[in-house]
Amino acid sequence: MAGSVEVDAWRVLPPKPYDSLADYIEVGGGAGLAATDAVEPDTIVEELAASGLRGRGGAGFPTGVKWRTIRAYASAVLRTSVVVNAAEGEPGTFKDRTIIRANPYAVLEGALIAARVMAATSITIATKAEFDVELTRLRAAIDEVRAAGWLGDVEISVVEGPSEYLYGEETALLEVIDGRPPFPRIAPPYRRGIDEVVAAEADAESGSGLSADVQMAGTDDSVAPPVLVDNVETMANIAAIVAKGAAWFRSVGTAESPGTIVCTITGDVEHPGVAELPMGTSLRTAIDVAAGGVLRGLEVGAVLVGVSSAVLTADQLDTELTYESMKAIGSGLGSAGYIVIGSSTDPVAIAAGVSRFLAIESCGQCTPCKLDGAEIAAILAKATAGNATTDDLRELEVRLARVADGARCNLASQQQAVVGSILDRFGPQVAARFEPGAEAVPIRLVAALVDIEDTGEVVDTRFVDKQPDWTFDDVDSGKTPVDRLTDHRSDETLEGAG
Ligand SMILES: Cc1cc2nc3c(=O)[nH]c(=O)nc-3n(C[C@H](O)[C@H](O)[C@H](O)COP(=O)(O)O)c2cc1C
Ligand code: SF4
Repeated sequence: MAGSVEVDAWRVLPPKPYDSLADYIEVGGGAGLAATDAVEPDTIVEELAASGLRGRGGAGFPTGVKWRTIRAYASAVLRTSVVVNAAEGEPGTFKDRTIIRANPYAVLEGALIAARVMAATSITIATKAEFDVELTRLRAAIDEVRAAGWLGDVEISVVEGPSEYLYGEETALLEVIDGRPPFPRIAPPYRRGIDEVVAAEADAESGSGLSADVQMAGTDDSVAPPVLVDNVETMANIAAIVAKGAAWFRSVGTAESPGTIVCTITGDVEHPGVAELPMGTSLRTAIDVAAGGVLRGLEVGAVLVGVSSAVLTADQLDTELTYESMKAIGSGLGSAGYIVIGSSTDPVAIAAGVSRFLAIESCGQCTPCKLDGAEIAAILAKATAGNATTDDLRELEVRLARVADGARCNLASQQQAVVGSILDRFGPQVAARFEPGAEAVPIRLVAALVDIEDTGEVVDTRFVDKQPDWTFDDVDSGKTPVDRLTDHRSDETLEGAG
C-alpha cells in the first residue's frame, strides 16, 4: 500500500513499517529528543523555522512560526499543552493513519520534543474512536516509549473522538478534548487551550454553553494557557529536523516547500495507495508511484484535492506538489489527498458529491454555511437528476457567493472553492446539466476513507445515510447539529449522533 520514490528521500514513512521501538532506534530514532535536551528551547524553534517545515494538516502554516508564537504566549502560572491532530477525516486522505501504522515512534518523538520546548507536561493525541488499528498501535508505542524512559514528567493521553469531519478542525478538536461536541470556536490568533475548569467557568459566565464562548489564550491564570496543535505528519517530521538540522531537511523539496509530502491517491486508479514523495514531484508521478497510474482505459477528467481546494483538470497533472505551484494554478496542496476521477464522470455529479459532504458535515453555527450549503447540495442533486433549470443555476451561483459569509471555520470556504471551481472549469458541461432534457446521472459518493486495502480503498458508505442533523435516523429532525446537540447536552452524546 505505501511506497516511496527514492529510498533516501523518505523522512517519515519507512519502506517497511517499524516492528518495535528498537527498530526505530536502530536507524537513529531518539536522536532528536536527545539533541533537544542538550540545547535551549529557542534553538530548537529557530532550527524548525530555518527548516521551512509547514503544517501538513492542510493549511500549510509555517511550523517554526507557530511554535515561536505559542512560546511567546506561555502563561506564567499554567502550563502550555501539546495536542497531536490525528483526526484524519477528509475524503481522499489516509496519510496520517498510514504514518501511525508504520511509524508511530516519530509522531511520539516529535510530540515529546514539542512538550520539552513548550515546557508542557501533557500531550494529547486526538484521534477517532473508530480508528481501531491506529489506537492499538499508538497505545503499544506509548507503552514502549514510556518503558524506554522517554516521557520524563510528561503524560500522554489518547482521546477517542467522534467520526465527524469537523472534529479535525483545530478548535473543534479542542472542544472535543474538553468534553464537548466538535463545534469550531471563534478563531483568535492565540486561542485558549485545554482546561475543563476554566472553560466551564467561561460557559457559566455566558450561560450559553456553546463553544463560541471559549475565547482567548492569556499569560495569567484567569484563562487557559495556549495549546500547540500539530498534525500527525508535521509532528513526525520534527525529530529528524532536530537531529539532522534544517539544511538536511531542505536537501529535498523546493525552497518554499522543503521536505517530503505524504500523498494519498484514490479514485479511478489502478491500486489506491499512499506514498511519501519529495515536494516538487509532479501530481502525475505521484499518481503513478502511489497508485500505479490512472485506471487503464480511462482518461482523467478531474482530480479532487480532498474537499478543500479548487479541482484540478487533466491539463494540470504536471503541476508540482508544492504550496507555490498549487497556489499558482488557483488550487492548494491541501492535505495531499487526491481523488482521481475519469472523464466519463459528469462534473456536476462530482460537485454534488462534494457539496453534499460539506453541507451534511457543517455544524450550523453559521447560518449561511448550513442553509446555503444545503441548498447548493440540493440544486446540484436536482441537476444530476436531470430536473434543473437555468434559474436553478443562477440560484446556485447566488448561494455560492454567500455561503462563506460570517463563517467561523474554513469549511464554508471549501464549499465555495471546490464547487465554484467545478462551475468555472467545466462551464459548458455544467450548463448542459441545467438544460431541459438532461439525462440523469448518479451522484459521485464523496466520503471519508475507512482504509486502503490490497483490493482498493474502502470509503465510509455509512455517510450515504447521514442526515444534516448528524443522525442516521430515517427522517432528519430539521435541527442543525449545534441546535440538536446543545439542546440535549445532558442526555445525548455524540456517539449517539454517529
Ligand atoms: C473542516 C476542517 C477539517 C480539518 N481536519 C483536519 C484533520 O483531520 N487533521 C488535521 O491535522 N488538520 C485538519 N484541519 C486543519 C486544522 O484545523 C489545523 O490547521 C491543523 O491541525 C494544524 O496543524 P499543522 O499546522 O501541523 O498542519 C481541518 C480544518 C478544517 C477547516
Ligand atoms: S463555517 Fe460551517 S462548519 Fe464552520 S463553524 Fe460555521 S457552520 Fe460550522
